[in-house]
Amino acid sequence: MCGIVGAVAQRNVVPILLEGLQRLEYRGYDSAGLAVVHDGQIERQRSTGRVVELTAKSANTNGQIGIAHTRWATHGVPSERNAHPHLSKDKIAVVHNGIIENYEALRTRLTAAGYVFTSDTDTEVIAHLIHTHYVQGKTLLAATQESLRELVGAYAIGVIASDNPDQLVCARRGSPLLLGIGIEEHFIASDVSALLPVTRRVVYLEEGDVVQLERKHYQIYDAQGKPVTRAIVESEMSNESVQLGQYRHYMQKEIHEQPQALADTLESVCNSQSLVPGIFGAEASAVFDDINHVLILACGTSYHSGLVARYWLEEVAGIACTVEVASEYRYRTSVPNPKSLVVVISQSGETADTQAALNHAKSLGHTHTLAICNVAESALVRLCKLRLLTRAGPEIGVASTKAFTTQLAALFLLTLVLAKQRGRLTAAQESAHLKDLRHLPTAVQKVLDLEPIIAKLAEQFANKSNALFLGRGMHYPIAMEGSLKLKEISYIHAEAYPAGELKHGPLALVDKDMPVISVAPNDALLEKLKSNLQEVRARGGELFVFADADSHITEAEGIHIIHMPEHAGLLSPILHTIPLQLLSYYVALQKGTDVDKPRNLAKSVTVE
Ligand code: G6P
Repeated sequence: MCGIVGAVAQRNVVPILLEGLQRLEYRGYDSAGLAVVHDGQIERQRSTGRVVELTAKSANTNGQIGIAHTRWATHGVPSERNAHPHLSKDKIAVVHNGIIENYEALRTRLTAAGYVFTSDTDTEVIAHLIHTHYVQGKTLLAATQESLRELVGAYAIGVIASDNPDQLVCARRGSPLLLGIGIEEHFIASDVSALLPVTRRVVYLEEGDVVQLERKHYQIYDAQGKPVTRAIVESEMSNESVQLGQYRHYMQKEIHEQPQALADTLESVCNSQSLVPGIFGAEASAVFDDINHVLILACGTSYHSGLVARYWLEEVAGIACTVEVASEYRYRTSVPNPKSLVVVISQSGETADTQAALNHAKSLGHTHTLAICNVAESALVRLCKLRLLTRAGPEIGVASTKAFTTQLAALFLLTLVLAKQRGRLTAAQESAHLKDLRHLPTAVQKVLDLEPIIAKLAEQFANKSNALFLGRGMHYPIAMEGSLKLKEISYIHAEAYPAGELKHGPLALVDKDMPVISVAPNDALLEKLKSNLQEVRARGGELFVFADADSHITEAEGIHIIHMPEHAGLLSPILHTIPLQLLSYYVALQKGTDVDKPRNLAKSVTVE
């Protein structure tokens, strides 16, 4: 949600800024801008739309120090006047990711002091505030520190001044920002992928840090203004991992990366003969001994993985589980249970609602916290006592795919570890589950081989306006995830129902124009599901059934069967996710939508 990149170097930094923005576009893509200092002046370029538009505009812009931004609108419509960087009196330029909650009061005060606002954003107050202090003779660093004391809310910012071609100041609180360390050049960025072409050596800033960067030197100050040293780490993210390679879209690439992502996530476990709580952290065993309930908090696709986990946790580990949408949990009065394990699930580890829900749970007295997350240095991981990192690699497509299936794998591990600790897993069952997990990447690869069949099937959806997804039991959340994917990238209105609910309302929608997609594994509910499908067929609805190899559902007029290569027992939700991802992808191709950057969405939603 909004991407920031900045640089101070001896060379022209504009190409570095533009390349960085391209790589951060998944964070927001409704407008973009950059500012550099050149001959004692700030030169700014901004444009609505994508970074390519900005690149075209910036052909003649150059400077050795600059900041840049790609935006996902919060305050103010996507327009050039609202695009960052924001200037104050052509002297100060600021880029910002986050939300300033007290911006209205500051805006009133600054307007009274003579500042003219040229945008509808909350960010512009930061530029003017810094200006007020800077023109009183403070350094850019001191003026920024002074201004930050007045801000309420979340921010990552980059600041430059027209009369200071040597220094870039940045700060973070509540939104991610890191430093890139080059050879006699320094960078800032919202995430490391933006900097991979120039450096891999990074410093992850802590909450409240403010930094003064120069070409040859940088100094970090903590929230109290004390100079501090933070570790330089070598990022393991490879440049290839954020390149498209042979694929047409990141989503397609990420769908195909799932066998590897699952293998990587499960690597340490699958190489061992038995499961130990230690995979969740040193304190895990003691924590797991002290719990009688699991409370899962997450948003979007991550929430769906939690819903699947509830079935596993209650059935296999025999532990009660509640799953809540993070944004709802934080605002309702709930009854805390100090013996709950609070599990937050997030691809990015940045989602504002999930962070706030975790903090809310802690404020209610919950101390047992576990993060399941794809980003090791993220806020959620830092905030939790226990963690399990999924190793999906960078996920660029806005619609989450490999992050979801690796979350499911992690949650299955949690289920098994809890089951074992609670004496509900025999040695034979444990080794059978480990065997299934070892086979999972291969099983997923076989499902991916259905791609040509699904691509063909997608042609039948291109002219539809609605779709229904049905599932039962632990496949109901998979139907929800399938429906979310279709909505997100093809803009077809889709809803998911547990198949038994059909007759209680949604059946009224079924006619020949309503495709009904059903997840039909060969589990205990198959016979019930078959009757639900008959209900649809009897109303003329067209059925698309993702059935297991041995489901005995036969193809007939209006019933299209896609047989899954194998039956995966408890891991079946992971396999059944794959064809639904492919279906959405190919329907979106048919419709010609922007698959990786669907309208109005952003990958990491760092605002409420
Ligand atoms: C956004 C993304 C979704 C994602 C959700 C939660 O809405 O578009 O794909 O599932 O945020 O993100 P998280 O990083 O917390 O998993």
